[in-house]
Amino acid sequence: MGETDTARCAQVTSEPLDPGAASAHVPCVPQRERYVFVCTNRRPDGSPKGSCAAHGSVEIHAALKNLMGERGLNKVKVRACTSGCLDVCWAGPVIAVEPDNYFYGRVTLADVPEIADALAAGTRVERLILPPNDFDEKTADPPLKSAAKEPQT
Ligand code: FES
Repeated sequence: MGETDTARCAQVTSEPLDPGAASAHVPCVPQRERYVFVCTNRRPDGSPKGSCAAHGSVEIHAALKNLMGERGLNKVKVRACTSGCLDVCWAGPVIAVEPDNYFYGRVTLADVPEIADALAAGTRVERLILPPNDFDEKTADPPLKSAAKEPQT
């Protein structure tokens, strides 16, 4: 976004809404190519369902967001967001990549640089992508070993 766009953006946001002027709208924040949603849902310790946050997803999100920022991708290409439960808890920590419509599962902090490299290149880390069977708890592959144990209180 150039200086002119920034000035126009400020002008647009300070003007009253005019439905007839919609075509003149200049977005203040560019739409990224991809939005990456890291589930950071946390259930109480000992919950049988487990949760992504209990297995490091908050740190995974922070690391991914940091790498996107370091590479200058966060403002134009990829925004790393947090999300609530994505309903595949048994395969957590999970990350949904949109608009590509795939999930990474059983992600660890050690996987984050590889995921960031793939996002930068517009590719995928195939070994982490959840196959269809993982979207049903009855047919899912086993959880991460670290994810199999919830802290007990
Ligand atoms: S807690 Fe992360 S998918 Fe349910």
